[in-house]
Amino acid sequence: MDYKAYIAERLHVEGVSPGEIASALAVPPDTSMGDYALPCFKFAKVLRRSPVSIAEELAGSFPADDVVEGAAAVGGYLNFRINKRGLAEETLCRIQNEGTKYGSSDMGGGKTVCIDYSSVNIAKPFHIGHLSTTVLGGALYRIFDFLGYRAVGINHLGDYGTQFGKLISAYKHWGDREEVEKGGIHAVNDLYVRFTREATEEMESEAREYFRLIESGDREANDLFEWFKRLTLAYVEKIYDRLHITFDSYAGERFYTDKMEPVIRELEEKGLLVESQGAKIVDLEPYGMPPCLILRSDGASLYATRDLAAAIYRKNTYDFDKCLYVVAYQQNLHFKQVFKVLELMGKEWAKDLVHVAYGMVSLEEGAMSTRKGNVVWLEDVISRCVEKAYAIISEKNPDLDDKASVAEKVGVGAVVFGALYNSKIKDIVFSYDKALNFDGETSVYVQYTCARANSVLGKAREKGIQWKDAETLQPCAQEFDLLKALAEFPETVKTAAKTYEPSVIARYCVDVAQKFNKFYIDCKIMGADSDMVRAFRLRLTEATLQTLTNALTLLGIGVPEKM
Ligand code: ARG
Repeated sequence: MDYKAYIAERLHVEGVSPGEIASALAVPPDTSMGDYALPCFKFAKVLRRSPVSIAEELAGSFPADDVVEGAAAVGGYLNFRINKRGLAEETLCRIQNEGTKYGSSDMGGGKTVCIDYSSVNIAKPFHIGHLSTTVLGGALYRIFDFLGYRAVGINHLGDYGTQFGKLISAYKHWGDREEVEKGGIHAVNDLYVRFTREATEEMESEAREYFRLIESGDREANDLFEWFKRLTLAYVEKIYDRLHITFDSYAGERFYTDKMEPVIRELEEKGLLVESQGAKIVDLEPYGMPPCLILRSDGASLYATRDLAAAIYRKNTYDFDKCLYVVAYQQNLHFKQVFKVLELMGKEWAKDLVHVAYGMVSLEEGAMSTRKGNVVWLEDVISRCVEKAYAIISEKNPDLDDKASVAEKVGVGAVVFGALYNSKIKDIVFSYDKALNFDGETSVYVQYTCARANSVLGKAREKGIQWKDAETLQPCAQEFDLLKALAEFPETVKTAAKTYEPSVIARYCVDVAQKFNKFYIDCKIMGADSDMVRAFRLRLTEATLQTLTNALTLLGIGVPEKM
């Protein structure tokens, strides 16, 4: 239930719309006076009266019912008290009925959202810099899907460019088929790194020739390229599995090879393409940006050229309502330019393209995990986190069954949550110890809370206690705080989607877990004074577990039953 809207609809303030009232309503820090408060000084000017007299008059005219019990004027504030038992009943029933669907909605009405994320580069390391795009994109994908959109996940592979010519040249000189097959992406990357260090003039020109051969469809060059691509994808797909990431399309940059020509022609026809020092550009000076480079003087296309073709292709193929690009803020200018060029081409849908920018992730000092030089491979970070999780779990609960699978959920969860907990634009420093702190604002804290709830429910089951049809009682303060938080989940998911901020859900998880733990410690569940109270609390416990499970699942984090 959206209480703010409910109150706003029933409160009549002359010259003020319900929407304005709803947004003025606040949750007071101390809810002993009321659950929502309207600061009436906001209307003093329009009504030409003092906040105190406005509050008093409104209090007298507010119609109490069984949703909002009443309104009281205190100073210049109008405080509303909601019917706690009514909220409890509605929330518990809804969670019970909707189960794994609790929090979902049909807000999207089947509209399509394309999400370009992860977008790895073939033959290059899948490093910690790809963490955010991968998990943010994956979370947004699930969130939009949950809200009734058709989500299309696109891995815009970096599989185009002269580096593949270099790679072929390096392989021809130093490579060994079996070794590369065995070493996979690491062996491929080694060859590339060796080329950048040791290539002679001769090899450089050979590399250019190989790239040309790939372009012109030469069989051998393309077979080699496809092989490198296969090795890279086999490797990253294993990581995607661990992170619960999926895609609907792997159409990468190379896919647009034959789709750029028509775009260039269209730019030309629309008089947007200008010659500049032999290159072809779109002038963006009037918009305060450097020119968007479309063709180099040697006729080669660029990253932006392929993004223009990709945007048009996606619009034609998916007819998206929105197309998101989950890419680091280093590419802010690139996307501003690409979006602007599309707008200048008269694509009215250019307004539906959104660069979902995020900050950098680095490892805390001294925590460098190195397989090679100074590149931190994402796989190493995940594996180390899982190892550490295993050690902690074994110490805390030596008798736990299936420690490896619990450690996988906890370790992967820590990496994912670490990348999602802060507002996405912030740079973050990942710390293994902080991410695995059982008492911190962490996924393991939330997972542990779920395990605790599970264990209480298990004990009740063992004793043959039934709670599904338990009567809803007048909740105490701790129960009510928790219930109110549970009731906010559907709104929270929507906010996360509207702001492209999975962090909203991550923070919500911690908030609910904290409220549950307060309830768990202050109120006896199994040891309640009466059967009725115990059953009600078990019902609340199960509802909490369901809500937290739904929230963690949206983020791509598993929930171990026991910990
Ligand atoms: N492969 C690029 C990189 O690693 C990211 C691609 C993002 N998507 C796009 N459509 N430009 O920087």
